Amino acid sequence: SEGTTHRRLPSRHRFVADLSQCLFDFVIQLLPTQDEMQVKEDVRKLLERLIRTIEPDSRLLSFGSTANGFSLRNSDMDLCCLIDSDERLSATDLVVMLGDLLERETKFHVKPLPHARIPIVKLSLDPSPGLPLGIACDIGFENRLALENTRLLMCYAMIDPTRVRTMVLFLKVWSKRRKINSPYKGTLSSYGYVLLVIYFLVHVKNPPVLPNLQQMPPLRPITKEDTHLAGYNTWFFDDIELLRTRWHSENNESVAELLIDFFRYYARDFSYNTGVASIRAGLLKKSSKGWQNDLSASRYHDSRERNRLCIEDPFELDFNVGRCVTKDGIYTIRGEFMRASRILSNRPERAVVALTELCT
Ligand code: GTP
Ligand code: MG
Repeated sequence: SEGTTHRRLPSRHRFVADLSQCLFDFVIQLLPTQDEMQVKEDVRKLLERLIRTIEPDSRLLSFGSTANGFSLRNSDMDLCCLIDSDERLSATDLVVMLGDLLERETKFHVKPLPHARIPIVKLSLDPSPGLPLGIACDIGFENRLALENTRLLMCYAMIDPTRVRTMVLFLKVWSKRRKINSPYKGTLSSYGYVLLVIYFLVHVKNPPVLPNLQQMPPLRPITKEDTHLAGYNTWFFDDIELLRTRWHSENNESVAELLIDFFRYYARDFSYNTGVASIRAGLLKKSSKGWQNDLSASRYHDSRERNRLCIEDPFELDFNVGRCVTKDGIYTIRGEFMRASRILSNRPERAVVALTELCT
Protein backbone atom coordinates (compact mmCIF):
# COMPACT_ATOMS: atom_id res chain seq x y z
CA SER A 1 0.00 0.00 0.00
CA GLU A 2 0.94 3.57 -0.32
CA GLY A 3 1.53 3.88 3.42
CA THR A 4 4.10 1.09 3.51
CA THR A 5 5.83 2.38 0.42
CA HIS A 6 6.13 5.69 2.09
CA ARG A 7 7.54 4.14 5.21
CA ARG A 8 9.90 2.03 3.16
CA LEU A 9 11.37 5.15 1.68
CA PRO A 10 13.04 6.18 4.88
CA SER A 11 14.66 9.17 3.37
CA ARG A 12 18.30 8.93 4.20
CA HIS A 13 18.09 12.59 4.79
CA ARG A 14 15.57 12.20 7.60
CA PHE A 15 17.49 9.39 9.28
CA VAL A 16 20.72 11.32 9.18
CA ALA A 17 19.16 14.48 10.60
CA ASP A 18 17.53 12.45 13.40
CA LEU A 19 20.78 10.68 14.11
CA SER A 20 22.69 13.95 14.42
CA GLN A 21 20.13 15.24 16.90
CA CYS A 22 20.28 11.98 18.88
CA LEU A 23 24.06 12.15 18.98
CA PHE A 24 23.98 15.67 20.43
CA ASP A 25 21.37 14.69 23.02
CA PHE A 26 23.24 11.54 23.92
CA VAL A 27 26.58 13.27 24.36
CA ILE A 28 25.24 16.24 26.31
CA GLN A 29 23.90 14.10 29.14
CA LEU A 30 27.33 12.48 29.51
CA LEU A 31 29.28 15.70 29.94
CA PRO A 32 30.75 16.40 33.36
CA THR A 33 28.66 18.72 35.53
CA GLN A 34 29.90 22.12 36.69
CA ASP A 35 30.13 20.60 40.17
CA GLU A 36 32.36 17.81 39.02
CA MET A 37 34.69 20.21 37.23
CA GLN A 38 34.85 22.39 40.31
CA VAL A 39 35.68 19.44 42.57
CA LYS A 40 38.44 18.40 40.20
CA GLU A 41 39.90 21.88 40.09
CA ASP A 42 39.82 22.00 43.91
CA VAL A 43 41.62 18.67 44.07
CA ARG A 44 44.28 19.93 41.68
CA LYS A 45 44.86 23.03 43.80
CA LEU A 46 45.04 21.02 47.01
CA LEU A 47 47.57 18.62 45.50
CA GLU A 48 49.60 21.48 44.08
CA ARG A 49 49.77 23.10 47.51
CA LEU A 50 51.01 19.85 49.05
CA ILE A 51 53.60 19.20 46.35
CA ARG A 52 55.00 22.69 46.86
CA THR A 53 55.93 21.76 50.41
CA ILE A 54 58.41 19.34 48.80
CA GLU A 55 59.33 21.28 45.65
CA PRO A 56 58.52 24.99 46.10
CA ASP A 57 59.04 25.82 42.41
CA SER A 58 56.56 23.32 41.09
CA ARG A 59 53.29 23.62 39.20
CA LEU A 60 50.65 20.95 38.83
CA LEU A 61 48.89 21.04 35.46
CA SER A 62 45.99 19.09 34.01
CA PHE A 63 46.36 17.21 30.76
CA GLY A 64 44.35 14.55 28.95
CA SER A 65 40.59 14.77 28.77
CA THR A 66 40.10 17.17 31.70
CA ALA A 67 42.16 19.70 29.75
CA ASN A 68 41.36 19.05 26.08
CA GLY A 69 37.59 19.32 25.97
CA PHE A 70 36.99 15.60 25.46
CA SER A 71 36.00 14.79 29.00
CA LEU A 72 33.10 12.55 29.95
CA ARG A 73 31.38 12.47 33.30
CA ASN A 74 33.61 10.82 35.88
CA SER A 75 36.66 10.53 33.64
CA ASP A 76 39.96 10.21 35.44
CA MET A 77 42.27 13.15 36.08
CA ASP A 78 45.67 13.27 34.45
CA LEU A 79 48.02 15.65 36.26
CA CYS A 80 51.56 16.60 35.42
CA CYS A 81 54.01 18.21 37.81
CA LEU A 82 56.48 20.67 36.28
CA ILE A 83 59.41 21.91 38.29
CA ASP A 84 60.89 25.24 37.27
CA SER A 85 64.27 24.88 38.86
CA ASP A 86 67.52 23.29 37.81
CA GLU A 87 68.23 21.41 40.98
CA ARG A 88 65.39 19.07 41.44
CA LEU A 89 64.75 15.64 42.81
CA SER A 90 64.54 12.70 40.41
CA ALA A 91 61.04 11.60 39.44
CA THR A 92 61.59 8.37 41.37
CA ASP A 93 62.46 10.21 44.60
CA LEU A 94 59.61 12.63 44.13
CA VAL A 95 57.13 9.80 43.67
CA VAL A 96 58.28 8.17 46.91
CA MET A 97 58.19 11.42 48.91
CA LEU A 98 54.93 12.61 47.47
CA GLY A 99 53.40 9.20 48.09
CA ASP A 100 54.34 9.39 51.80
CA LEU A 101 53.11 12.94 52.12
CA LEU A 102 49.73 12.31 50.51
CA GLU A 103 49.27 9.19 52.59
CA ARG A 104 49.78 11.23 55.76
CA GLU A 105 47.92 14.38 54.81
CA THR A 106 44.94 13.35 52.68
CA LYS A 107 42.10 10.89 52.47
CA PHE A 108 43.25 9.58 49.10
CA HIS A 109 44.19 5.98 48.54
CA VAL A 110 47.76 6.38 47.40
CA LYS A 111 49.80 4.07 45.20
CA PRO A 112 53.28 5.33 44.31
CA LEU A 113 54.87 3.63 41.29
CA PRO A 114 58.44 4.98 41.53
CA HIS A 115 59.96 2.32 39.29
CA ALA A 116 57.48 2.33 36.43
CA ARG A 117 58.79 3.29 32.97
CA ILE A 118 57.17 6.65 33.68
CA PRO A 119 57.14 7.07 37.48
CA ILE A 120 53.71 8.18 38.72
CA VAL A 121 51.61 8.41 41.85
CA LYS A 122 48.15 6.93 41.52
CA LEU A 123 45.42 8.38 43.71
CA SER A 124 41.80 7.58 44.25
CA LEU A 125 38.95 8.78 46.43
CA ASP A 126 36.07 6.55 47.38
CA PRO A 127 32.58 7.65 46.42
CA SER A 128 30.92 10.01 48.89
CA PRO A 129 27.59 11.89 48.89
CA GLY A 130 29.20 14.97 47.32
CA LEU A 131 31.16 12.83 44.87
CA PRO A 132 29.01 9.83 44.04
CA LEU A 133 31.55 8.26 41.73
CA GLY A 134 34.78 9.05 43.52
CA ILE A 135 37.87 10.27 41.72
CA ALA A 136 40.81 8.60 40.06
CA CYS A 137 43.93 10.57 39.38
CA ASP A 138 47.49 9.98 38.13
CA ILE A 139 50.31 12.41 38.88
CA GLY A 140 53.34 12.28 36.60
CA PHE A 141 56.41 14.49 36.31
CA GLU A 142 57.87 16.67 33.58
CA ASN A 143 55.72 15.13 30.88
CA ARG A 144 55.83 18.25 28.72
CA LEU A 145 55.07 16.38 25.52
CA ALA A 146 51.76 15.22 26.98
CA LEU A 147 50.88 18.82 27.85
CA GLU A 148 51.62 19.83 24.26
CA ASN A 149 49.65 17.02 22.64
CA THR A 150 46.76 17.88 24.95
CA ARG A 151 46.94 21.46 23.68
CA LEU A 152 47.01 20.26 20.07
CA LEU A 153 43.86 18.16 20.56
CA MET A 154 42.20 21.05 22.36
CA CYS A 155 42.91 23.34 19.40
CA TYR A 156 41.42 20.82 16.99
CA ALA A 157 38.34 20.62 19.22
CA MET A 158 38.02 24.43 19.23
CA ILE A 159 38.07 24.77 15.43
CA ASP A 160 34.78 22.94 15.05
CA PRO A 161 33.51 22.21 18.56
CA THR A 162 30.17 20.80 17.53
CA ARG A 163 31.28 18.20 15.04
CA VAL A 164 34.66 17.29 16.51
CA ARG A 165 33.60 17.04 20.15
CA THR A 166 30.39 15.20 19.38
CA MET A 167 32.21 12.60 17.30
CA VAL A 168 35.05 12.15 19.76
CA LEU A 169 32.83 11.96 22.85
CA PHE A 170 30.48 9.52 21.20
CA LEU A 171 33.36 7.29 20.11
CA LYS A 172 34.82 7.36 23.60
CA VAL A 173 31.55 6.16 25.11
CA TRP A 174 31.03 3.64 22.35
CA SER A 175 34.55 2.21 22.64
CA LYS A 176 34.22 1.92 26.42
CA ARG A 177 30.81 0.26 26.27
CA ARG A 178 32.00 -2.12 23.57
CA LYS A 179 35.11 -2.87 25.65
CA ILE A 180 37.68 -1.90 23.06
CA ASN A 181 39.23 0.99 25.04
CA SER A 182 41.86 -0.73 27.11
CA PRO A 183 45.54 -0.76 26.11
CA TYR A 184 46.24 -3.16 28.99
CA LYS A 185 43.96 -5.68 27.37
CA GLY A 186 45.29 -5.28 23.87
CA THR A 187 42.92 -2.63 22.52
CA LEU A 188 43.29 1.13 21.98
CA SER A 189 43.54 4.08 24.42
CA SER A 190 41.17 7.05 24.27
CA TYR A 191 44.09 9.07 22.98
CA GLY A 192 44.42 6.63 20.08
CA TYR A 193 40.74 6.95 19.16
CA VAL A 194 40.95 10.74 19.24
CA LEU A 195 43.90 10.59 16.83
CA LEU A 196 41.92 8.29 14.53
CA VAL A 197 39.08 10.84 14.44
CA ILE A 198 41.39 13.77 13.72
CA TYR A 199 43.25 11.81 11.06
CA PHE A 200 39.90 11.04 9.41
CA LEU A 201 38.72 14.67 9.52
CA VAL A 202 42.02 16.14 8.27
CA HIS A 203 43.21 13.57 5.75
CA VAL A 204 40.37 11.28 4.70
CA LYS A 205 37.42 13.62 4.31
CA ASN A 206 37.45 15.57 1.12
CA PRO A 207 36.95 18.49 1.46
CA PRO A 208 38.57 18.25 4.90
CA VAL A 209 36.64 19.15 8.04
CA LEU A 210 39.82 20.30 9.83
CA PRO A 211 43.02 21.93 8.59
CA ASN A 212 46.40 20.36 9.37
CA LEU A 213 47.62 22.57 12.23
CA GLN A 214 51.13 21.12 12.08
CA GLN A 215 51.59 22.05 8.40
CA MET A 216 50.16 25.54 8.30
CA PRO A 217 52.54 28.38 7.54
CA PRO A 218 53.66 30.02 10.80
CA LEU A 219 52.79 33.67 11.33
CA ARG A 220 56.34 34.65 12.12
CA PRO A 221 59.69 32.95 11.71
CA ILE A 222 60.18 30.20 14.24
CA THR A 223 63.43 28.94 15.65
CA LYS A 224 64.34 25.46 16.63
CA GLU A 225 64.67 26.46 20.29
CA ASP A 226 61.11 27.75 20.34
CA THR A 227 59.60 24.66 18.96
CA HIS A 228 61.58 21.64 20.08
CA LEU A 229 60.97 19.65 23.23
CA ALA A 230 63.14 16.67 24.10
CA GLY A 231 64.32 16.62 20.49
CA TYR A 232 60.81 16.59 19.03
CA ASN A 233 59.26 19.33 16.97
CA THR A 234 56.10 20.37 18.81
CA TRP A 235 55.21 23.38 16.71
CA PHE A 236 51.65 23.80 15.50
CA PHE A 237 49.44 26.70 14.52
CA ASP A 238 47.68 27.54 17.78
CA ASP A 239 46.07 30.94 17.17
CA ILE A 240 42.58 29.55 16.77
CA GLU A 241 40.87 32.95 16.83
CA LEU A 242 42.93 34.04 13.86
CA LEU A 243 42.45 30.71 12.15
CA ARG A 244 38.70 31.22 12.22
CA THR A 245 39.08 34.35 10.12
CA ARG A 246 41.43 32.67 7.64
CA TRP A 247 40.31 29.12 7.27
CA HIS A 248 36.87 27.82 6.60
CA SER A 249 35.91 24.21 5.94
CA GLU A 250 34.12 23.55 2.67
CA ASN A 251 32.76 20.40 4.21
CA ASN A 252 29.20 20.79 5.44
CA GLU A 253 28.40 17.20 6.34
CA SER A 254 26.50 16.62 9.55
CA VAL A 255 27.90 14.78 12.55
CA ALA A 256 25.84 11.73 11.63
CA GLU A 257 27.15 11.61 8.07
CA LEU A 258 30.70 11.96 9.33
CA LEU A 259 30.22 9.22 11.91
CA ILE A 260 28.72 6.80 9.40
CA ASP A 261 31.62 7.48 7.09
CA PHE A 262 34.13 7.15 9.92
CA PHE A 263 32.91 3.65 10.75
CA ARG A 264 32.88 2.64 7.10
CA TYR A 265 36.40 3.93 6.55
CA TYR A 266 37.90 2.07 9.50
CA ALA A 267 35.83 -1.05 8.81
CA ARG A 268 36.74 -1.31 5.14
CA ASP A 269 39.16 1.19 3.71
CA PHE A 270 42.02 1.93 6.09
CA SER A 271 45.06 -0.16 5.17
CA TYR A 272 45.76 -1.85 8.48
CA ASN A 273 48.47 -4.11 7.03
CA THR A 274 50.70 -1.48 5.51
CA GLY A 275 49.41 1.93 6.58
CA VAL A 276 50.26 4.33 9.39
CA ALA A 277 47.72 7.00 10.32
CA SER A 278 49.62 10.26 10.91
CA ILE A 279 47.72 13.43 11.71
CA ARG A 280 50.92 15.32 10.87
CA ALA A 281 51.67 13.77 7.50
CA GLY A 282 48.63 11.79 6.30
CA LEU A 283 48.80 8.12 5.36
CA LEU A 284 52.33 6.77 5.74
CA LYS A 285 53.80 3.34 5.05
CA LYS A 286 54.81 1.06 7.90
CA SER A 287 57.92 0.24 5.89
CA SER A 288 59.00 3.87 5.77
CA LYS A 289 58.95 3.99 9.57
CA GLY A 290 60.43 0.56 10.17
CA TRP A 291 57.12 -0.55 11.67
CA GLN A 292 56.30 -3.37 9.27
CA ASN A 293 54.80 -6.49 10.74
CA ASP A 294 56.13 -8.89 8.14
CA LEU A 295 57.67 -12.23 9.10
CA SER A 296 61.24 -11.02 9.03
CA ALA A 297 60.43 -8.83 11.99
CA SER A 298 59.18 -11.75 14.04
CA ARG A 299 62.66 -12.54 15.32
CA TYR A 300 62.49 -9.35 17.25
CA HIS A 301 60.27 -10.87 19.83
CA ASP A 302 56.88 -9.24 19.67
CA SER A 303 57.51 -6.41 17.24
CA ARG A 304 54.88 -7.99 15.00
CA GLU A 305 52.47 -7.80 17.85
CA ARG A 306 53.39 -4.18 18.53
CA ASN A 307 52.66 -2.84 15.08
CA ARG A 308 49.31 -4.32 14.17
CA LEU A 309 47.64 -0.94 14.31
CA CYS A 310 49.92 1.98 13.55
CA ILE A 311 49.06 5.50 14.68
CA GLU A 312 51.93 7.98 14.70
CA ASP A 313 52.11 10.26 17.72
CA PRO A 314 51.81 13.87 16.51
CA PHE A 315 55.17 14.85 18.06
CA GLU A 316 57.00 11.69 19.08
CA LEU A 317 57.25 10.44 15.54
CA ASP A 318 59.00 7.21 16.50
CA PHE A 319 56.19 6.31 18.86
CA ASN A 320 53.26 4.13 17.79
CA VAL A 321 50.23 5.11 19.88
CA GLY A 322 48.58 1.83 18.83
CA ARG A 323 51.54 -0.28 19.99
CA CYS A 324 49.51 -2.09 22.64
CA VAL A 325 46.95 -3.38 20.18
CA THR A 326 47.37 -7.14 19.76
CA LYS A 327 46.34 -9.44 16.94
CA ASP A 328 43.13 -10.29 18.81
CA GLY A 329 42.68 -6.64 19.70
CA ILE A 330 42.77 -5.40 16.12
CA TYR A 331 40.44 -8.20 15.06
CA THR A 332 37.95 -7.16 17.75
CA ILE A 333 38.25 -3.43 17.04
CA ARG A 334 37.78 -3.91 13.32
CA GLY A 335 34.86 -6.20 14.00
CA GLU A 336 33.30 -3.43 16.06
CA PHE A 337 33.81 -0.88 13.28
CA MET A 338 32.06 -3.32 10.91
CA ARG A 339 29.21 -3.92 13.33
CA ALA A 340 28.70 -0.19 13.84
CA SER A 341 28.82 0.42 10.13
CA ARG A 342 26.24 -2.32 9.55
CA ILE A 343 23.85 -1.04 12.22
CA LEU A 344 23.94 2.47 10.81
CA SER A 345 23.57 1.41 7.20
CA ASN A 346 20.57 -0.80 8.00
CA ARG A 347 18.91 2.42 9.07
CA PRO A 348 16.40 1.20 11.60
CA GLU A 349 13.14 3.08 11.74
CA ARG A 350 14.40 5.39 14.45
CA ALA A 351 17.84 6.83 14.92
CA VAL A 352 17.62 6.49 18.69
CA VAL A 353 17.17 2.73 18.28
CA ALA A 354 20.31 2.59 16.18
CA LEU A 355 22.30 4.50 18.81
CA THR A 356 21.13 2.28 21.62
CA GLU A 357 21.95 -0.83 19.64
CA LEU A 358 25.38 0.58 18.78
CA CYS A 359 26.31 1.01 22.41
CA THR A 360 24.90 -2.16 23.94
P1 GTP B 1 39.84 9.29 29.18
O1 GTP B 1 40.82 9.16 30.31
O2 GTP B 1 39.33 7.99 28.67
O3 GTP B 1 38.78 10.30 29.42
O4 GTP B 1 40.65 9.86 27.92
P2 GTP B 1 41.85 10.88 27.81
O5 GTP B 1 41.48 11.87 26.75
O6 GTP B 1 42.29 11.40 29.13
O7 GTP B 1 42.95 9.98 27.16
P3 GTP B 1 44.02 9.03 27.82
O8 GTP B 1 43.71 8.80 29.25
O9 GTP B 1 44.17 7.89 26.86
O10 GTP B 1 45.33 9.89 27.69
C1 GTP B 1 45.52 11.06 28.44
C2 GTP B 1 46.69 11.85 27.90
O11 GTP B 1 47.87 11.11 28.09
C3 GTP B 1 46.60 12.13 26.41
O12 GTP B 1 45.89 13.32 26.14
C4 GTP B 1 48.03 12.25 26.06
O13 GTP B 1 48.47 13.56 26.36
C5 GTP B 1 48.71 11.28 26.99
N1 GTP B 1 48.88 9.96 26.39
C6 GTP B 1 48.10 8.89 26.54
N2 GTP B 1 48.56 7.84 25.86
C7 GTP B 1 49.65 8.28 25.25
C8 GTP B 1 50.56 7.66 24.40
O14 GTP B 1 50.46 6.48 24.04
N3 GTP B 1 51.57 8.45 23.96
C9 GTP B 1 51.71 9.73 24.34
N4 GTP B 1 52.72 10.46 23.85
N5 GTP B 1 50.87 10.35 25.14
C10 GTP B 1 49.85 9.63 25.58
MG1 MG C 1 42.57 10.32 30.94
